[in-house]
Amino acid sequence: MIKDELRKIMNDVYGQSENPIRFFQAPGRVNLIGEHIDYNGGYVFPAAIDKFSTVAIRKRDDDLIKLYATDLKYVVEANINELEKYKNLKWGNYQLGVIEQLMKKGISVGGAEFIFNDLVPLGSGLSSSAAIEVVTAYAMTELYGHNIDKIEIALICQKAEHEYVGVKCGIMDQFASAMGKKGNAILLDTDTLEYEYIPVKLDKYSIVISNTNKKRSLGESKYNERRSECEKALADMQNKFPEKKNLCDFSYKEFLLCKDEIKDEKCKKRAEHAVCENLRVLDSVKSLRKNDILSFCKYLNLSHISLRDLYEVSCKELDILVESAWMQKDVLGSRMTGAGFGGCTVSIVKTESVEEFINDISKVYYEIMGYDASFYVCNISDGVKEI
Ligand code: GLA
Repeated sequence: MIKDELRKIMNDVYGQSENPIRFFQAPGRVNLIGEHIDYNGGYVFPAAIDKFSTVAIRKRDDDLIKLYATDLKYVVEANINELEKYKNLKWGNYQLGVIEQLMKKGISVGGAEFIFNDLVPLGSGLSSSAAIEVVTAYAMTELYGHNIDKIEIALICQKAEHEYVGVKCGIMDQFASAMGKKGNAILLDTDTLEYEYIPVKLDKYSIVISNTNKKRSLGESKYNERRSECEKALADMQNKFPEKKNLCDFSYKEFLLCKDEIKDEKCKKRAEHAVCENLRVLDSVKSLRKNDILSFCKYLNLSHISLRDLYEVSCKELDILVESAWMQKDVLGSRMTGAGFGGCTVSIVKTESVEEFINDISKVYYEIMGYDASFYVCNISDGVKEI
């Protein structure tokens, strides 16, 4: 049992203490559709997955934060009053950034020791960082007796990522990790943060995640670049529609009416993706509500094409996985998921053919790339909680 293991590691690494140990977990997420529009005020449709960042936490009687991960095996130690000093850590900055944000918000927390067991694959587009942030914020606030709303937790974590890590991410990942619900995806309006749980009943089909195992390198800077290209496009489009505040506020017709205002061709493509992706999310969810899985999946496929050709965040590895999935007879849909430039794809595969799918795609991928992709069938799980 994970709790017994983590308790033992806690006592081995930090020694025994009178203070009780508590345990929390937060999931990674797969985004089913609605990519790169959570910073454009669009609708997104993520789901929490059954891969978790789990933490054992215990109070300390001083002002130190101590972090240890089961796979890294070294302790990061920081003084809670000087957290801005630790921004360049190789590991630990997500956690410390979140704790700094809690304190900036006036939420009083103190010393604590953590053992992390992170099973969301790192840098794979499944939001390993959001899982770590959310579990840290939730565990820390619960440990210190605060009962903070989970949406507030998500917002604090997003801010930490902006300020401490430097990635200007949207709210989708932290929201899904905090607010996930077993068996449901979340239709989230990233402009208002209104949301609705939508049951994902795929009947004879399963959700298969395929990992390119390509480590993202340029990902973070490209991410911020896409974001600013969208801002430029919006500013130009506002010449004709000054009342609109987000790219995703535009209908396709309105986009056509003002697209010639956009000076930069690249920015025009980014805007077209954002406008259409937002509409695809709404249409695909309509199909899912009617149990029309086939149409739902058509939107997934169109989303990939748009991310590949207009938004240009796919890469050779993702395209191989997606395009070979499309050729399988028992696959209804497949697309890249997450920020792109590497990471994972999500495919909707007939359950009885999952093994064949994995065998076939593995072979193709290995033949072209010379290294393996990895696969797993994912279940939709709850968001952050105490275990
Ligand atoms: C990353 C970000 C999210 C979102 C996706 C792309 O996962 O953290 O906010 O923008 O990329 O959809």
